[in-house]
Amino acid sequence: MKNIVLTGFMGTGKTAVGKILARRLGLVPVDVDAEIEREQKKTIAEIFGQFGEDGFRDIESTAIEKLSAMKNVVLSTGGGAVLRADNMDALRKNGVIICLAASPETILGRTCESKDRPLLQVDNPLQKIKELYEFRKPYYEKADIIINTDDMSPAQVAEEIIQAIRNRR
Ligand code: S3P
Repeated sequence: MKNIVLTGFMGTGKTAVGKILARRLGLVPVDVDAEIEREQKKTIAEIFGQFGEDGFRDIESTAIEKLSAMKNVVLSTGGGAVLRADNMDALRKNGVIICLAASPETILGRTCESKDRPLLQVDNPLQKIKELYEFRKPYYEKADIIINTDDMSPAQVAEEIIQAIRNRR
């Protein structure tokens, strides 16, 4: 079985869905951001603070190259991982790419409590989400399968992914 790669904007549930999906399919859940934090011994916010977004993206690409070589994993990526073609090439080699989508309002609701996402620490996060989403849309659309997660629990999203993968075969 190919790896399952979850892409999508912040707050679309990639980490939570990845864990459930991995359990259901007997695969290992791997979260790229968590692996970066473990390896760098810094939080994502600290990495952004120290190296800026470009520095973070370089670290992210190195991690993706390494992690996408693993087998039998559900790989949950950070929301900006799709922006680099090299990342997508590496992820696609071993994996089927599933993009989780949600409306900007849903994303705001799911992310507003947390201070973990440096890109959303602005005066008007809804506006920022809309701008970033608009810019990134063509990148997210490169996925093999796109699943809308509005009004769905992570378990329901995982179930839908399993069905979509089966239907694709
Ligand atoms: C980012 C998403 C974050 C994290 C970093 C940048 C982005 O991951 O990688 O803050 O550019 O969309 P999540 O999508 O898991 O929140």
